[in-house]
Amino acid sequence: MSEYYWAMCDWTYKFNIFCDEILPKYTIPIEGQVLQLGVAYGLGLEKLSALYGKDRTLGLDIENPLRHPLCEIYDCSKPPKDRDLAFVHIDPGSAYKPEFKEMRINLIKWATSNILKDGILITAGRNRAKKCLNWDVEKHLENNNFEISYPEDHLSQDSINLLKETKQGVEDQIIAIKR
Ligand SMILES: C[S@@+](CC[C@H](N)C(=O)[O-])C[C@H]1O[C@@H](n2cnc3c(N)ncnc32)[C@H](O)[C@@H]1O
Repeated sequence: MSEYYWAMCDWTYKFNIFCDEILPKYTIPIEGQVLQLGVAYGLGLEKLSALYGKDRTLGLDIENPLRHPLCEIYDCSKPPKDRDLAFVHIDPGSAYKPEFKEMRINLIKWATSNILKDGILITAGRNRAKKCLNWDVEKHLENNNFEISYPEDHLSQDSINLLKETKQGVEDQIIAIKR
């Protein structure tokens, strides 16, 4: 695993904070998979399985350095097979690096057409991420009947400040619920 991910994806990674402070506010559909695309060390995947149950939780990544039992090796350059999704976190590679742009856009489109009513989609897509992707993720989600909110609508100012200090792009994140 590259130094880039090693440095970033520890317990202070934004998604871990979202799992602690945002996801418990919502109820996701009873049916459907809980899917994380881009798993790194599996810390977020572990939190998802604790929240929603390990029987329905799956992570896909080209690597699984800590051999998380719920992570399968998969290259997300090709969207996975269609399935019902109750939750999806789209986080492979980086929204800021051109080599991942097409993959991320394709995965957002794929997830949009697989997610169930009241399912949650989390990804990067506004501010700097929107510019790097050169695609209006929010417009796409709104056109597909998602209700959008942002980390700052949910997190305490202390958590937002901490995340901003670590420059993880929390201001680029979108939390979208399919209605
Ligand atoms: C930002 S980290 C993911 C962090 C993770 N979501 C978490 O909550 O800790 C990005 C991950 O994307 C993975 N990745 C990069 N290219 C990929 C690809 N083509 N398919 C699947 N995963 C990929 C990397 O191996 C890395 O683990």
